[in-house]
Amino acid sequence: MTPEFQFLPPQASTLSSEVDALFFFVLGISIVFSGLIFLAVVFFSIRYRRKSDSDAPEQIDGSLLLELTWTIVPFLICLVMFAWGAKIFFENSRPPVAAEGIEILVTGKQWMWKVQHPDGTREINELHIPIGRPITLTMTSEDVIHSFFIPAFRTKMDVLPGRYTSLWFEATKEGKFHLFCAEYCGTKHSEMIGWVHVMQPHEYESWLGGGSGGESAVAAGERLFSELGCVSCHSGESGSRGPDLAGLYGKTEELASGGSVKVDESYLRESILSPLSKVTEGFEPVMPTYQGLVDEMGIMRLIAYVKSLSDLEGAEGE
Ligand code: CUA
Repeated sequence: MTPEFQFLPPQASTLSSEVDALFFFVLGISIVFSGLIFLAVVFFSIRYRRKSDSDAPEQIDGSLLLELTWTIVPFLICLVMFAWGAKIFFENSRPPVAAEGIEILVTGKQWMWKVQHPDGTREINELHIPIGRPITLTMTSEDVIHSFFIPAFRTKMDVLPGRYTSLWFEATKEGKFHLFCAEYCGTKHSEMIGWVHVMQPHEYESWLGGGSGGESAVAAGERLFSELGCVSCHSGESGSRGPDLAGLYGKTEELASGGSVKVDESYLRESILSPLSKVTEGFEPVMPTYQGLVDEMGIMRLIAYVKSLSDLEGAEGE
């Protein structure tokens, strides 16, 4: 098999063509101006060479017009690059509303990618997704910094221990695409690779059906919630020792120490691992830490469960 030379990886997501257009714009501008500068250097060195020993050039004391031109033109070009880049950056960093897409959990670990689909199907170093649906990855690391990189989708995000990052994309092309770890993470960093399989939606459904499947992230979270005894304090009944978790996700809570915090993935994670750092007002600092009792995937499942409590609340209110 002779590998075909490819200047760029295939374009396989909604973002790809936008990123490439900007890349070629910046590349084009750079080539044009490099060319102009080289031509000017050659031209001036011939045109204004010293023709004899007594040859002295005419003195120029500056030209306002010239200086304004070479300041304003590049400035405007840079503004275009900035605005265009910012537009793509914002699109890329704001996942579409969760309801439209699929949220997949990813944990990086020396040296593999662990993936869990919403129905509980798990896979390692592979990511199966349907074409034409926005996919949001919620990612964390069990050890060091990794980086989730899919060149064909033109998207990459660092995966950090102790916090969540997210990445979203919508595939536009069926097939098999490379997945890399793009942050040096130890001896086998170069082996921390895999494949993204983009399939037709019905193929994805049947793939899910045939997978290890079983328990969904929410169900696994609910099971952990009772196994770990969370339910004894967070029962939601009045007089409970811990806050009621139903409808909590997405709210802003007042803290006992003053100030407030938005209840998001990171806050829930912090509250599981280091419960005393931000105690909700009206409650005693009595919750023990669950550090070491539950792994990163477990925490993500607990969070998925807590989030599902809010979805229910929202649905009931409609
Ligand atoms: Cu993980 Cu490099």
